[in-house]
Amino acid sequence: MGYIGNKEAQPLLFKALKKLEYRGYDSYGIAVLGESIGIHKDTGRVGALTKYVPSLAGLMGIGHTRWATHGEPSQINAHPHTDCSGRFAVVHNGVITNYCELKEELIREGHNFISETDTEVIPHLIEKYYRGNLEAACAETITRLKGSYAIAVIAQTNQQIVVAKNGSPLVIGLGDHENIIASDIPPLLDYTNRVVYLDDGEIGVIDKDNVKISRSGKEIHKSVSLVNWNAEDVQKSDYAHFMLKEIHEQPKIIQHAINGFSLDEFPIVGTDFMGNKGGKGLLILACGTSYHAGLVGKYIIEELLDIPVRVELASEVNHRERMIPVANAIAITQSGETADVLISMKKLMDTGSLTLAITNVRGSSASRLATKTLYLNAGPELSVAATKSFIAQLIEIYKLILLQPGIKTDTKKQLSLELKLMPNYVQQVLDNEQQILDCAKQIAHYSNIFYIGRGINYPIALEGALKIKEISYIHAEGFAAGELKHGPFSLLQPNTPVVAIVNRDFTYDAMITNIKEIKSRKAPVMALVREDDRETEKLTDMIINVPNTHSLFSPIVNTVALQLLAYYTANELGCPIDYPRNLAKSVTVE
Ligand code: F6R
Repeated sequence: MGYIGNKEAQPLLFKALKKLEYRGYDSYGIAVLGESIGIHKDTGRVGALTKYVPSLAGLMGIGHTRWATHGEPSQINAHPHTDCSGRFAVVHNGVITNYCELKEELIREGHNFISETDTEVIPHLIEKYYRGNLEAACAETITRLKGSYAIAVIAQTNQQIVVAKNGSPLVIGLGDHENIIASDIPPLLDYTNRVVYLDDGEIGVIDKDNVKISRSGKEIHKSVSLVNWNAEDVQKSDYAHFMLKEIHEQPKIIQHAINGFSLDEFPIVGTDFMGNKGGKGLLILACGTSYHAGLVGKYIIEELLDIPVRVELASEVNHRERMIPVANAIAITQSGETADVLISMKKLMDTGSLTLAITNVRGSSASRLATKTLYLNAGPELSVAATKSFIAQLIEIYKLILLQPGIKTDTKKQLSLELKLMPNYVQQVLDNEQQILDCAKQIAHYSNIFYIGRGINYPIALEGALKIKEISYIHAEGFAAGELKHGPFSLLQPNTPVVAIVNRDFTYDAMITNIKEIKSRKAPVMALVREDDRETEKLTDMIINVPNTHSLFSPIVNTVALQLLAYYTANELGCPIDYPRNLAKSVTVE
């Protein structure tokens, strides 16, 4: 991030970096321009009370929180990086893939490198090309860079911040005699809701009163967008963690999403994207939690619309040499900035596919790349572990499907009515927190946990396991229940609890058999059961009751229960819930 204006930059940079920590938090640093460029960098989190922080005076500066890719988290590898003389300072997100050859060239020319990072080549290139004009030196520098970057540069001689981007996000907030740049919206909200999104290949020169943007040396005019989030949306309020706040926001988000839900809402999306053009079916691309939303989507689309759906991990698709062409693809990405998703979207669009992005962030790279975008309207999600965005993704998928002409009128009516009850059902799960907390206390001290589900709840077993492993560090695996006996059964022991999602549909009897098999191997079973399911209760060691929803909506209530289970388990273990080890919220590198 960067600030230029009339206020002391250092406290503002620190405050803003705290708001960006979810993007990386293994080290941090700032550079402030006073009489010269003053730099402070350290390992760990911004504002740790035990750390000495020098006072750097100046009205402009840049800052960075790092998620290490090249070189371990250390003070030397933390950004900002400088050239030999310390006249230029640079912060960078992304990966410079040709940095080794650039570094060799620069070393041959006499430049000294001190870090293991790819980023350090940037200030040295700027030093090499600087002939009195910072913008020109940056423009020349980026012609040498391969890979992805969003950079912010300051120079000892200039009252300006120069920014450039390719692949990684960068947004400029327009204040009153002050301007702010950042890789995401939250730190800008204290100053303004008027923003300009930089596009790939553009360079911005920012002073306190002006923002000049150019492409290939020509100044261009960019439109100003209004952000509809506000500063309170990025506060924890009375909650101990953002994750708990975001879990509790879910009834409201669902309510908001279904208010006014009508067939007129997606006139184009509805017909263009859900078809089976050329009989090639539909492709869904996503990573992590969003991939699990895609798997639930596949199940419902195939069930209700009879359209074959492939769900692919974007991180795999983008390394495939050849793609089976599809007419339509849906990219699901909360942040809209996941590099793997963006690269695979581009790859598909190059073959002529239309893409629909389902994302939470207006102005995000995915939304600007896609043919059409559906927004989640879930508000900013700051906890690294995705919760409300997953539920919002599911709701958008349900809505999209319910709008399709192919569904029988009775089914549509029944499911639409059920959808309207979801805020209440989710609230019931939240009201059942004590039961979930008791279960969390019991499983917190195990080293391995299995999650099993069938049918539409198989992806929810994957999601439950992902959630608990990322925030509690307990090893957890999600399985399709029927797969246990094809291998994982050998791992079952009295100290391996199994969380079984028991749905009252055609999978019920098979799941009961699975539970009996697990019990006969003496592994404890915790079951997510409908309130009236006495039979499962008798068979299992621990239960979490969930409301009686229509089977196709059961992923929603089951997920919310498993989010709380993960949260309370991690809390019991004293884990840093919002900032789990080694993770970052937006994975903007491949
Ligand atoms: C897990 C989690 C990640 C993300 C994944 C994709 O809690 O948050 O698995 O789901 O990194 O991120 P988006 O949806 O932003 O593309």
